[in-house]
Amino acid sequence: MEITARGLTKIFSDAANRVVALDGVDLTLQSGELVVLLGPSGSGKTTLLNLLSGLEVPSEGDVLLNGEPLSFLSDRKKSLLRNSSFGFIFQFFNLLPEFTVLENTLLPSLIGKRGRDFTTTREEAKNLLAELGLGDRTEALPSELSGGEKQRVAICRALINRPGFVFADEPTGNLDRENAEICLNLFRQMVVRSGTGFIIATHNQEIAAAMAARTVRLKSGKVVM
Ligand SMILES: Nc1ncnc2c1ncn2[C@@H]1O[C@H](COP(=O)(O)OP(=O)(O)OP(=O)(O)O)[C@@H](O)[C@H]1O
Ligand SMILES: [Mg+2]
Repeated sequence: MEITARGLTKIFSDAANRVVALDGVDLTLQSGELVVLLGPSGSGKTTLLNLLSGLEVPSEGDVLLNGEPLSFLSDRKKSLLRNSSFGFIFQFFNLLPEFTVLENTLLPSLIGKRGRDFTTTREEAKNLLAELGLGDRTEALPSELSGGEKQRVAICRALINRPGFVFADEPTGNLDRENAEICLNLFRQMVVRSGTGFIIATHNQEIAAAMAARTVRLKSGKVVM
């Protein structure tokens, strides 16, 4: 799978203000690679992730998925595509508190993925959780987990539909150093093992350096060298 951004621009404006959040970004991302999106607060990282994943609509330019412009798709098709082809990881984990670790992991597989055998998916979820060291916590609730464990559940959830790309927005922002490192290593392993593309947005230069991966630098909405 390949995502291309062409002249991607996002302008937020109301009566009083006009913010150019993203300014003519050109970029190509491939499944199977890990890319760090590095930039200070307000440089447009979240905006870029939201546009690449079709969550928001650009003001100018377009996003192409395997050469097909997202702008041609209806909202319904776009959300189906998001659910089947993309996974998401957030700074604050965004696990549903009333659901167990296993149920949280399975959530994306319940939405829009018809024709997939639930028993098999459930086994896959359990295997994935076990791989990430959560084999004995599948029935726990999120409130019973540490931050690092929560983020590992979120990684499993992001991967359950075998997406082409995982978008991670400051995924280690709420973790201590040790758990951040565990998490980053898991991203690296998962890229190799699952062939998924990972796009990791961070303002943290240390993380970018530690990943030793392709780094796209953003400054004031523009890609800089
Ligand atoms: N919905 C919105 N309405 C108005 N302005 C917005 C909106 N979303 C983002 N912006 C502005 O666009 C710019 C880029 O924001 P964005 O959230 O993409 O930055 P970021 O790099 O993710 O920052 P952070 O590291 O703080 O998360 C900022 O100036 C922000 O204030
Ligand atoms: Mg952000």
